[in-house]
Amino acid sequence: MTTELKASKYRCPTCGGADFVTSVTQWRCTDCGQTYACVYGMPKLFNEETLGAQDRKLRDTFYDGLFGRLYQVTMPAIVMPVRPLSLSGPYWIAYFAAWIALLGLAVGLVAALVSGAWIAAVILALPLVLAALVLNRQRYLLHLLWTAAPVWLSLSRRPYTPPETFAQVHERVLAPLRTASRRLQVLDVSTGSCNSLYKHGWMSLDADYTAIDLSETMLKQGSEMMSKAGVAVDLVLGDAMALPFQDDRFDVVLSYGAVNGLTDPVKAIAEMARVAKPGGVLLFLDEQMYDAATPLDRAYFHKVLSSHNIIHRCPVESLPASLTDVRVTQIYQFYYICTARKAG
Ligand SMILES: C[S@@+](CC[C@H](N)C(=O)[O-])C[C@H]1O[C@@H](n2cnc3c(N)ncnc32)[C@H](O)[C@@H]1O
Ligand SMILES: [Zn+2]
Repeated sequence: MTTELKASKYRCPTCGGADFVTSVTQWRCTDCGQTYACVYGMPKLFNEETLGAQDRKLRDTFYDGLFGRLYQVTMPAIVMPVRPLSLSGPYWIAYFAAWIALLGLAVGLVAALVSGAWIAAVILALPLVLAALVLNRQRYLLHLLWTAAPVWLSLSRRPYTPPETFAQVHERVLAPLRTASRRLQVLDVSTGSCNSLYKHGWMSLDADYTAIDLSETMLKQGSEMMSKAGVAVDLVLGDAMALPFQDDRFDVVLSYGAVNGLTDPVKAIAEMARVAKPGGVLLFLDEQMYDAATPLDRAYFHKVLSSHNIIHRCPVESLPASLTDVRVTQIYQFYYICTARKAG
């Protein structure tokens, strides 16, 4: 069965057209005839050859496949030194268990080698080699091992008071939107598993939701989560730096934890501004170090939290001229939120 989308919010990545004939297996642009395959019913509205090198690399080595499926587990682990113990208890248990296991295996291996117990040595060496391969491929996990406990201890002795909290920034943006006189259009860019879109108050709006990501593995999890939660959302596989949406379409454009890691963060923000309606709101969050960071904080920030990023702070000086009322708030020691409004 096919459906015709005429003058849609979508934009053909090849010709910019807005008309498509869609089915669960493919979308066809009726202006240029280009077809876009669907994965799990979601259209892949991007051209592989125009993707940035960093985006392709992160997708293929981190977000797609096994690591993408484990993202809900690895992501809270990465931030465990900056979260309250009550939220990260199981991660700390796993962290100390990993240390004990690695040290135990290493001591056992040395003892087996010294005593000439070769079979025991091989049995002990195998998991160590496996761990070394994983830690070598995912270096941030290696650095997390040595930084997590010292950083947690250091931060817990120096509490940080933000000028505005995460919740206050969200409430500042959300409160006027809740009284809007018409149904809003909300877009989440690099939505991943739709976690942030779902959790941070946006579901309290009278809105239609659209979400885009480059990774099939991540977006499939988002699709499953949103359908379990009963939230209707238009999901698209696409590139944040070439958003497959027409100009001036969304009242709210969000992005959580992605901008700094894209091949061209400034281009991605310009794209977010392009697809926002005049008067629309942008909100994006990512890594940025607070002023009082210690050398240990910096090591954790650069080797773990921000290790995959292209930039390491909000590119506030390079925002498009169409954005006004720009506010960058250091909400935690290692994160900013930037809010802005598109003029008009
Ligand atoms: C750290 S995750 C954040 C996911 C989600 N926003 C959240 O808060 O959990 C970054 C996301 O950016 C996506 N991403 C990376 N490069 C992208 C690109 N060029 N276009 C769209 N999404 C991209 C990844 O697939 C991943 O899902
Ligand atoms: Zn086209």
